[in-house]
Amino acid sequence: MALNDYRVALVTGASSGIGAAATTALAEHGLTVHALARRADRLAALAEGHSVVPHALDATDDSAVAALLAGIEPDVVVLNAGTSKAGALHELSAADVDGQLALNVGAVLKTLQRVLPGLIARNRGHIVLIGSVAGVYPLAHSTLYAATKAAIHTAALSLRAELAKTRIRVTEILPGRVRTEIHGRSLGDPEEARRRLFDGFETLEPEDIAEAIVYAVGAPQRVNVGVIEISPTHQAYGGNIFAPSASQP
Ligand SMILES: NC(=O)c1ccc[n+]([C@@H]2O[C@H](COP(=O)([O-])OP(=O)(O)OC[C@H]3O[C@@H](n4cnc5c(N)ncnc54)[C@H](OP(=O)(O)O)[C@@H]3O)[C@@H](O)[C@H]2O)c1
Repeated sequence: MALNDYRVALVTGASSGIGAAATTALAEHGLTVHALARRADRLAALAEGHSVVPHALDATDDSAVAALLAGIEPDVVVLNAGTSKAGALHELSAADVDGQLALNVGAVLKTLQRVLPGLIARNRGHIVLIGSVAGVYPLAHSTLYAATKAAIHTAALSLRAELAKTRIRVTEILPGRVRTEIHGRSLGDPEEARRRLFDGFETLEPEDIAEAIVYAVGAPQRVNVGVIEISPTHQAYGGNIFAPSASQP
């Protein structure tokens, strides 16, 4: 599928998981992909054989991101870098709150502030935000993460309204459980993540999300694919929590 006349993409969080799969998929569709993440070795491996330009930097480093964006004109912007730490809200630290807000929300909004003037001036482009089902459904022990992803959800909806008079499209993707490194980081132990979340479960793969990105970006210019929720077939949300009195503290 030709991805319209888009030539250049920016993908954050490109060194693993969904971002790496999205980088590869966009490069395979002929785009030059500027791939941003902190792990230079992973980005270098991703760039082998593909039109991928690695940028080893921290997405929350405002001046480094500004310097990068001053030199490129991306048509497709995939804001995907994100982190999570599992735990009840009161068990997490203030630094956890600051760090997760800075990356999952602050870096996304600030990067948008930097790319939007160019996109609007050129009146073309596509913004893809990676949210989460946690941003729209309750998820115990993920209150902080859920709050950051809810911010992305509402930002995507408002940005879409803000840009409706332009040729700039906005898509948010809400993945359910995808087999990536985020779960090991979140639990602090990749093996525990494998045992608790992956062994015995049929989950999504990063390529499933990359295919959705390619679909949205490749849709005809008259089409804005707004929100895509993608879950493993056996994962669903909702239900009813009604703790028996005896279980209350
Ligand atoms: N996996 C799931 O089940 C799932 C479900 C819903 C939503 N999501 C969302 O999908 C997105 C991608 O996560 P993933 O599942 O693919 O996990 P992942 O493999 O851990 O990918 C996270 C990416 O973000 C990068 N990153 C982390 N901190 C960064 C920073 N400060 N600056 C720049 N890059 C940074 C990581 O690279 P470096 O460490 O090299 O910087 C990595 O490339 C996240 O926004 C996540 O919330 C994931």
